[in-house]
Amino acid sequence: MKYESQKIAQNFYTFAVVLFLVQTVVGIIAAIQFIWPDVLILNFNIIRTLHINALVVWLLAGLMGATYYVVPEESQSELWSVPLAHFQFWATVAAVGLVILGYVWMGLNPQANSPIFGINPLSEGREYIEAPRWADWLIALSVILFLVNNVMTMFKTKHWTGIQGTLVGGLVFLTLMYLPGMFYTKSMVKDQFWWWWVIHLWVEGAWEVIAGALLAFMLMKVTNAPRAVLEKWMYIEVGFVLFTGILGTGHHYYWIGTPGYWLWVGGIFSSLEPVPLLLMVWDAFRTTRENRVVSNKLGLFLATAHAIFNFVGAGLWGVIHTLPQVNKWTHGTQITTAHGHLAFYGAYVLLVVAMIYITLPHIRGVTEYNQSRGYRSFWWMTVSMVFIVLTITGAGMVQTYMERLLGLDYVTVKGTYNLWFWIFRVLFGFGFLYGVGLFVLDYFRLGREPVTVASARFAEKAA
Ligand code: HEM
Ligand code: HEM
Ligand SMILES: [Fe+2]
Repeated sequence: MKYESQKIAQNFYTFAVVLFLVQTVVGIIAAIQFIWPDVLILNFNIIRTLHINALVVWLLAGLMGATYYVVPEESQSELWSVPLAHFQFWATVAAVGLVILGYVWMGLNPQANSPIFGINPLSEGREYIEAPRWADWLIALSVILFLVNNVMTMFKTKHWTGIQGTLVGGLVFLTLMYLPGMFYTKSMVKDQFWWWWVIHLWVEGAWEVIAGALLAFMLMKVTNAPRAVLEKWMYIEVGFVLFTGILGTGHHYYWIGTPGYWLWVGGIFSSLEPVPLLLMVWDAFRTTRENRVVSNKLGLFLATAHAIFNFVGAGLWGVIHTLPQVNKWTHGTQITTAHGHLAFYGAYVLLVVAMIYITLPHIRGVTEYNQSRGYRSFWWMTVSMVFIVLTITGAGMVQTYMERLLGLDYVTVKGTYNLWFWIFRVLFGFGFLYGVGLFVLDYFRLGREPVTVASARFAEKAA
């Protein structure tokens, strides 16, 4: 680590890692509730909200931590204001903590979310961004403070690089795209129209831009590949992501009451979305082939795995149901859930995990660390996730057949499902939890335990 202020990244990483564990435990509870609805005092709706909001928040925290590491490094200067970064961190933790308590309280006492002056105080009820209005403002403020700090760091030194510029550009896009989610209208069609700007333009726009920048950074750090080449490919990837992803939003406008031309626009542009993701995979392999000196094998392994699973989860599992001709059968089924899991895992969980393994050793001041636990954690998480996704893809096919071909209603189908789908999801969920547990343990131990010969050899072999 070159600059003392990069240490702030660790606060965000710790928050992210702890919430990842919470998200996973809550995911297992949600899965058990498919078999046993009354297993807990909190109902499925609250558990599901906690699961997906924890996901969004921890990934954002991880990306913030990564940015606080990358921007000073690329700017070749200390962060503009360390106290501001600390304030922003604690304000975020406090706001998120209050929102979570609010969801739990609402679960115990649904009346508590009754409108006050027309505003629901505990949950706004829009999937993934359920946070109430007062929290929206706090979150927006926190993100603006975060942006100001990083942009001022860049302005202060005037040392600008493509990586850092693209990263901050993606973050500004991300912030702007939070605002359509705060727009109230009485029309459900318009509400959904704007809501997708947040959800879709985040994960298939802004976040992919950030991923492109961080992939270039990671490859440069672990292989010492030339910056000019990496940045050239980054611009091509990111340009293509925006070209396909922005109009690709249309794949959510097929059936919500928007004009018919969206069937064409959405179908054509979203079908092209896997192309830049495939470029990223190729970029990772090309860089690895051309630069043989690797400083952090696990880091390179995870960065490449991120590129591959971004392509498989978002690209492949996305494109299979993105044409309107297919989507009219699969819309809103477990096929969607299967894709949602593999896409988020491949594109963003692995991105944050890879960034942590690449930057944390520098933050903790070590060059060598036990890599074996990191590999084991990766395999437990990845194999379990792949099986969860295969299981619910199967469940989704059965659901599509019964609901859309036989015309049975949602509740009847839910009541007649083969329970084994749900039992397998729970079992693989525990496998995933074990992998997350290893990762969390490794996070707290990294650089703080002696490097053993055995584990160094294991890492050699695994790589
Ligand atoms: C990393 C990027 C991506 C992530 C994290 C992601 C995640 C998700 C999630 C969570 C949903 C469910 C939303 C809901 O609750 O209704 C969804 C829906 C969808 N995604 Fe993605 N996705 C990504 C990329 C893609 C790509 C590249 C494609 C197409 C090639 C795609 C196609 C779709 C389609 C068609 C739906 C709607 C499914 C339906 O009609 O029910 N996604 N995505
Ligand atoms: C232990 C592992 C996990 C289990 C058992 C699990 C289980 C569940 C369950 C039961 C739901 C509700 C599905 C529904 O409403 O039909 C859900 C939703 C969701 N989970 Fe997970 N989850 C796990 C891990 C993860 C991870 C690691 C991610 C992110 C990478 C994730 C992302 C999501 C998303 C985006 C949704 C909403 C998608 C949708 O309903 O279309 N989950 N999960
Ligand atoms: Fe989308």
